[in-house]
Amino acid sequence: MTFDSLAASYDASFGVAPTGRLFRFRVAERVMTSARPGSRVLDIGCGTGEDAVWLAAQGCLVHGIDPSPKMIEAAKAKAAARGSTATFECRPVQSLATEGASFDAVISNFGALNCVPLETWAALAPSLLTASGRGFVSLMGRRPLPEALRRGRSAADRGRTVAVKVGDSAISVHYESVDAVRRALAPAATVRRVEALGCLVPGPGFEGFARRHPIVVGVLAMAEAVVRRAPFFNERGDHVLLEFERR
Ligand SMILES: C[S@@+](CC[C@H](N)C(=O)[O-])C[C@H]1O[C@@H](n2cnc3c(N)ncnc32)[C@H](O)[C@@H]1O
Repeated sequence: MTFDSLAASYDASFGVAPTGRLFRFRVAERVMTSARPGSRVLDIGCGTGEDAVWLAAQGCLVHGIDPSPKMIEAAKAKAAARGSTATFECRPVQSLATEGASFDAVISNFGALNCVPLETWAALAPSLLTASGRGFVSLMGRRPLPEALRRGRSAADRGRTVAVKVGDSAISVHYESVDAVRRALAPAATVRRVEALGCLVPGPGFEGFARRHPIVVGVLAMAEAVVRRAPFFNERGDHVLLEFERR
């Protein structure tokens, strides 16, 4: 499976590196505005289980799914090492079509759902939520500002569907606008909040810069806190965090 080859090294970038941690913290902070101890949380495309284990430590009942056997192996090992109650299962989001609406929060972090056509996950995710549940999906943004500033106009738009090399194989990655996500969710859910993760702070692809210039990144993070929900900026993150509720 494509992401298997990344499992062993994945946490070095998205688990412990400063920007990865910053983005993860901001997503966790939002999830905890809605989830409570005892809430049932589904983590779609959970990877190595970083968020699932953290949320379980806050008292949530977390189940993580991912189609990569190596990612699930890493997640289970992490949960065992930390004495976590989080549970994990090797399956893709598409297989959840027949599950009931049983989760108080459905989360998906660091672009797992960029690997799935928008129409597919947008039809499924709301149906997994209880009536008062909330979805939190962090997608890789289509037009990240730091990348455009650094690399020029050619990086201003990542394009809609792009073949991206992951390990030894290529996968289709779908970069969607916020409007497209709103429209796709509209029959079943309403988008309540949109914020950029990394509209000023450079994304995990610029970890070298973040390590060399922590004060600059700190200042950019403070500025980002002011503009991250403002029109123009809210879609121009390295990632974009969308929150939605069932209609
Ligand atoms: C960049 S990783 C993000 C992992 C994790 N959410 C995190 O925050 O670190 C993307 C993950 O999406 C998973 N993925 C790919 N296709 C998927 C699908 N159809 N259903 C669910 N997850 C999928 C991959 O196996 C991979 O673990």
